[in-house]
Amino acid sequence: MDIDRLERFWIMISIAVLGAMILAIVYSVHGFGIELPADVAQVDPTRARETEPFANPGVHEVAPGHYEVTMLASAWRFEPNEVRVPAGSTVTFRLTSEDVIHGFRIPNTNVNLMVQPGQVVEATHRFTDPGTYRLFCHEYCGIGHHVMAGTLVVER
Ligand code: CUA
Repeated sequence: MDIDRLERFWIMISIAVLGAMILAIVYSVHGFGIELPADVAQVDPTRARETEPFANPGVHEVAPGHYEVTMLASAWRFEPNEVRVPAGSTVTFRLTSEDVIHGFRIPNTNVNLMVQPGQVVEATHRFTDPGTYRLFCHEYCGIGHHVMAGTLVVER
């Protein structure tokens, strides 16, 4: 089969663009740690409040410098809605929702989750800089959506 010179040129360009896109994905995953949040477990949303670990929400130290924050999302709050960890901590947030779809976002971090009823999701981030971070729901969840927020204090 004879392919025209110009046609071959543009085929090569489209293959090169595809290759560049794949390299960009690989680079963002390994270079910036961008990844899809995994669905780590299931829980009956109507019984989430009685089910471990959500029966005991809050901050738990699991290893030196590593904390797990178990949080329950519901209309229109996070429990707990204030979290304190020391600077330099690695924090794993584990959430579920007991009613509708909520979001969980901490600006300027990789933490960005969709919190669906019945599904447990996780995200981990290392907080090196002391300060106060806002965390909020970024999935429209009803009339009180705009007040569904909390605070993360990274202490010196
Ligand atoms: Cu919860 Cu918006």
